[in-house]
Amino acid sequence: MPTRTEKLGWIGAGRMGYAMAERLAKAGCDVSVWNRTREKADPLARHGAKIVERLEELSSRDIVFCMVSTYGDVKEVLARLLSASTKPRMVVECSSISLEGSAELRELLKKHQVQYLAAPVSGNAKVIKAGKLTFVVSGPKAAYEKAQPYLDMMGAGSSYVGEGELARIAKICHNVMLGVVIQSLCEITILAQKAGMPRHAFLEFLNKSVMGSMFTRYKTPALVNLDFHVTFTPKLLRKDLDLGLDAGRELEVPMPLASITRDLLQQMIGQGMTEEDFSTLLLAQAKASGLALEPENVAVGDGL
Ligand SMILES: NC(=O)c1ccc[n+]([C@@H]2O[C@H](COP(=O)([O-])OP(=O)(O)OC[C@H]3O[C@@H](n4cnc5c(N)ncnc54)[C@H](OP(=O)(O)O)[C@@H]3O)[C@@H](O)[C@H]2O)c1
Repeated sequence: MPTRTEKLGWIGAGRMGYAMAERLAKAGCDVSVWNRTREKADPLARHGAKIVERLEELSSRDIVFCMVSTYGDVKEVLARLLSASTKPRMVVECSSISLEGSAELRELLKKHQVQYLAAPVSGNAKVIKAGKLTFVVSGPKAAYEKAQPYLDMMGAGSSYVGEGELARIAKICHNVMLGVVIQSLCEITILAQKAGMPRHAFLEFLNKSVMGSMFTRYKTPALVNLDFHVTFTPKLLRKDLDLGLDAGRELEVPMPLASITRDLLQQMIGQGMTEEDFSTLLLAQAKASGLALEPENVAVGDGL
């Protein structure tokens, strides 16, 4: 059972939000969940979560977590939350959004005397299930200390980076790296295959090497067996690369690798490759290299 007893609210039961709320519910927290498409949230009731019909019902919870898509969506749901006569004590916003959007939210919530933490995350739904999700958090330290036990229940812990919107820029930097690394991983995997070696053999070596990481390991089954079941969409990755490039322009930082990766991703999106995982960059790279890919049907671990 949790050591804390705040009443929690949860907005957004998409791929990430569902898995995160599930961990809180399984840990025994008192959590009420709202999702625009209610059926996606319904299975959380099995673990003790209460599914609410109206978003405004979450306004009487102590701490409300939010995990939707873009800043526009965050703004929309939080405006509805704040339209109710009661207000939560704190909002913990976990979606990947811009610094400017986050600052605007802070102002809005301040007007309503609601504490606010920017708390974006690293990891996909599988990573959450494995208990390895991490948070980067900014905002008032006292608010962080109140929210921290719940963040801990959702994964492998959080890093507090300071006041204001600092966590947003940390997350944007992280996802720029995600984009650049997946593109590089796809390029070299196709290069290795075209030179004559099976993808699984190359990736096994890479994963054991100093260049291997939790990320290269958990993407290996997709790259070997061409299972592109979506974990993160190309459009969501494009949003994050755009946030990185905008921040680079604002702060006068050249970002040549982010820029070219954004264009490669755009080519893929322009060709209609939008519904599968962002690691379909492998297919785009194979096509550009004149290589027809087949699943290797080899059992490879994801390292999680
Ligand atoms: N997937 C990853 O690996 C990953 C990792 C780290 C961070 N992120 C970030 O986490 C956030 C969520 O990503 P995801 O992969 O979970 O996306 P997703 O599966 O597409 O889920 C999006 C969620 O937002 C809700 N939503 C979107 N627009 C809304 C609106 N206008 N009003 C109300 N609800 C709305 C959706 O409701 P419906 O169910 O009704 O559509 C759904 O619950 C994004 O900011 C993403 O960049 C994702």
